[in-house]
Amino acid sequence: MKAVIPAAGLGTRFLPATKAQPKEMLPVFNKPTIQYVVEEAVASGIDDILIVTGKGKRSIEDHFDKSFELEYFLRNCGKTDNLHEIEAISEMADIYYVRQKKQNGLGDAILCAKKHVDGDAFAVLLGDTIAKSDVPCTQQLVDIYNKYGASTIAIEKVPDKKVERYGIIKGNRVSDNLYEIEDLVEKPKLSEAPSNLAITGRYILTPEIFDHIEHLTPGVGGEIQLTDAMKSLDKIYGHVFEGKIYDIGNTVEWLKSSIEIALEDPEVGEDLRSYMAEIVKC
Ligand code: G1P
Repeated sequence: MKAVIPAAGLGTRFLPATKAQPKEMLPVFNKPTIQYVVEEAVASGIDDILIVTGKGKRSIEDHFDKSFELEYFLRNCGKTDNLHEIEAISEMADIYYVRQKKQNGLGDAILCAKKHVDGDAFAVLLGDTIAKSDVPCTQQLVDIYNKYGASTIAIEKVPDKKVERYGIIKGNRVSDNLYEIEDLVEKPKLSEAPSNLAITGRYILTPEIFDHIEHLTPGVGGEIQLTDAMKSLDKIYGHVFEGKIYDIGNTVEWLKSSIEIALEDPEVGEDLRSYMAEIVKC
């Protein structure tokens, strides 16, 4: 299976940090966000990855490219650990790029992957969302796809105040963590939301999705919405993801993600914990 990572958005919720750098390259603790996303795809057994980029996103390509100068320098200084880490980034997967020519929504970004995906089911991992779990989120979805042979998306229960930020599903529970989806609504008002189960940014989609996207008219925000295209799929399941999602699209969530991930780091975790305890007392 191939993976598609949409990373073409302008990151307007994160200005001015994203004025001259892609939001997907903002570091969460010590790595750019999109590296976590690529690592999740690779950990789920996927090594053919298409990143949908756009204007001003070139640093994403540089990050996953080989860096001869840096590697030469690290080798000469004897910084072997750093060298191996840097080499591994450019070797972890075959990464391809396509540009979305115009900001026209997530559905339109996915449509840019049609040729590359070439008629097979494929995974979608949003480039600004990190999913942490023992079994990688995409792997959890692949397992369900392999069992049921239908499109499957990760969902998560969100508090009322966050409902308007997400695509929300209406579904019938078929087992503990699995819903058969009847309807989906992109960013509904709380009063119109059919549930609190939100689409979290990980999908396995069958290739019919492309036809449905091609027939869409603009939805919320005047954009071509992937959520609207998914309504027309014959069958689609929602899996309540076992793990934690970090949506780094806004500043507070991004900060929390960095802190939580750093707290788990064996080298800096303890130090950070006592620093936080200290500042909270003041
Ligand atoms: C996109 C999707 C939405 C989903 C969300 C998850 O929205 O359109 O359905 O719930 O990602 O982060 P965006 O955050 O790009 O506005």
